[in-house]
Amino acid sequence: MTVDSRPLTEHTAHSAWLHDDAFAALGSRRVVVAGDGALTGTVAEEVAAATARFGGAFSRLEVGDGVSDAELVLTLSPPLVEPVETPMVSTGSTGEGTDESFRLTREAGAVVVQAASDAGLLHGLFHVVRLGEAAFDGPDADETHAPATDLRMLDHWDNVDVHPVMGQVERGYSGGSIFYDHGYVHADLSRVERYARLLAAVGINRVAINNVNVHTREARLLTEDLGDVVRVAAVFRRWGIRVHLSVSFASPITLGGLDTSDPLDQDVAHWWVRAAARVWDAIPDFGGFVVKADSEGQPGPFAYGRTHADGANMLAAAVEPYDGLIHWRAFVYDHKQDWRDRSTDRARAAYDHFHPLDGAFSDNVVLQVKYGPLDFQVREPLSPVLAAMPHTRVALELQVTQEYTGQQQHAVYLGPQWSQILRFRFWDASGGEGGSPTVADLATGRGKAVEDPGTGTWRKPAGGFAAVSNVGDDEFWTGHPFAQANLYAYGRLCWDPALDPGALLDEWAALTFPGTPSAVRDALHTVLDRSWETYEQYTSPLGVGFMVRPGHHYGPDVDGYEYTPWGTYHFADRDGIGVDRTVRTGTGYAGQYPAPWSAVYESPSTCPDELLLFFHHVPYTHVLQSGSTVVQHIYDSHFDGVARVEAMIGAWSEVSTLVDPHVSERVSERLAEQLRSATEWRDQVNTYFFRKSGIPDERGRRIY
Ligand code: GCU
Repeated sequence: MTVDSRPLTEHTAHSAWLHDDAFAALGSRRVVVAGDGALTGTVAEEVAAATARFGGAFSRLEVGDGVSDAELVLTLSPPLVEPVETPMVSTGSTGEGTDESFRLTREAGAVVVQAASDAGLLHGLFHVVRLGEAAFDGPDADETHAPATDLRMLDHWDNVDVHPVMGQVERGYSGGSIFYDHGYVHADLSRVERYARLLAAVGINRVAINNVNVHTREARLLTEDLGDVVRVAAVFRRWGIRVHLSVSFASPITLGGLDTSDPLDQDVAHWWVRAAARVWDAIPDFGGFVVKADSEGQPGPFAYGRTHADGANMLAAAVEPYDGLIHWRAFVYDHKQDWRDRSTDRARAAYDHFHPLDGAFSDNVVLQVKYGPLDFQVREPLSPVLAAMPHTRVALELQVTQEYTGQQQHAVYLGPQWSQILRFRFWDASGGEGGSPTVADLATGRGKAVEDPGTGTWRKPAGGFAAVSNVGDDEFWTGHPFAQANLYAYGRLCWDPALDPGALLDEWAALTFPGTPSAVRDALHTVLDRSWETYEQYTSPLGVGFMVRPGHHYGPDVDGYEYTPWGTYHFADRDGIGVDRTVRTGTGYAGQYPAPWSAVYESPSTCPDELLLFFHHVPYTHVLQSGSTVVQHIYDSHFDGVARVEAMIGAWSEVSTLVDPHVSERVSERLAEQLRSATEWRDQVNTYFFRKSGIPDERGRRIY
């Protein structure tokens, strides 16, 4: 596998969804920007540049000045127009954030965007950019737009030092880091500035800038190297984005010279109080700390016989005076399991650790929960922790970087997966739109979700969203140019989880490739619309997960993790495959769900096909709800998956000459690798199950 990641420079960095031409509609109008505040300055600079480029006119006025012939007014309140009267969409506000909403009115083609804060004005500007001509051509309108939650965050797994195994960016597939270079923070932060602009345009407002695995060098960002964080925060601030740091729970020892990091030790607590005071003194709008504790070798409170609530609350007290947050990760499990031990189930671990602590966390602790109980697989059930913590602020954690979904070599658009996750209802298996809360509701604290249907109690305010970024210093930011669409969709879904992923693809394409023929748009849909499902088809079957090469996690290795300590097994033998997680005969994991899902997952006859092997160990001849047997499904889906990749390549080759040759060349190169890799997956998986089961493909296709 070659990873061609030419370094990003000012001249070669791809414009992604902020192509100059995406500003044509706005830039050719007479535009007024009114109001104070740093971000209003950013708005004014954007408008000035666009109007200079496209022949429009720009003026900067005081709020309240008269405006005669402007076609677009972007103004802070107190307004040039009537005050906001339209009913606000619930923001799920945590009470900590700025009001980022904006109101857009259009009357006889004149558009006014009005916001209470300069952050809202910036979101309003990018809304107008997204709409293009439709912003001005549409019928008269009066709309208020507000984000679903204040907490819309990206986590970078970037290392300051190059880690000997994980490199500059852990699970990074886009070249080096935009922040760090071999032990240093870049002197020139212009790439970070461009990144911040891209993030602001999709509504991201918080960024954690270092890896959750905090190594020696990275730990010092909290103390001696805080000056570097100050510089990075200054760049993000211009775009309404607050910076967070991942910190090591052992910092009082490793940085402070104490002999303990016991959360109940007074000296430890004081060390953190002083550390927090220094950080907020240097960066008054600092966001808070992200903590991976007692997980995969990271230190945590277990070493002192303390709970995770003890650990999180001690940190929460230190950051509380500054409205700081502690994002405490729920990714806690035994990574040194004995594979012979059938009683331990990694999937159970987060619920077993955290459910008993519901209600014990301070108000400024956000429990950050991966969407599934294992680790960002192409298919997992939703983590039952999301439903089990009504008295805790819970954030949904997604992975934009494609660790287990093709590592940005494969075109895999994750918008549909995330949308499905966000729409899932823990208390309703009918698929109906009935009143019970969705996962999006649980994360945003919206509407009815505040009342927990299980307990009738009130939920804590929103924990929002967090996701691992897929960006590096690669020319296209994301290695595969189409992986930009994932970052775009993540940001937009944080703002409004109800958005349609197909429509988001259109938005992204229109902004990224403005003016390209509709054939290109159609081809993008052919390649990406069902690409998540396609990847699932040619990799591990029916929700069983993993089967990747250990360590780097790229490509097939069916038994790669089978006899390892990591707790990710498929238990295939000559008769069958899958993990019995039932209450009746298995690990009991299915019982961690509320009704009705606990019952639905418990029985192989009701468990959805796509999750069958996650919950059940069944014979290869077990008949799925689809009517196919398990083994025949494995053969069929693997042949189909590769055929679909061939069709993707066909669709792209018909339009590849219609887009920038640079983009086209990179996409074609990646599609070729996707086909090679998908073929390898198909042949290894099919051959493995043919050899294990001895059951031939009923259609007689080639298996080795
Ligand atoms: C996965 C990933 C690790 C990462 C971990 C985490 O296990 O492979 O590289 O550190 O998730 O989320 O903390």
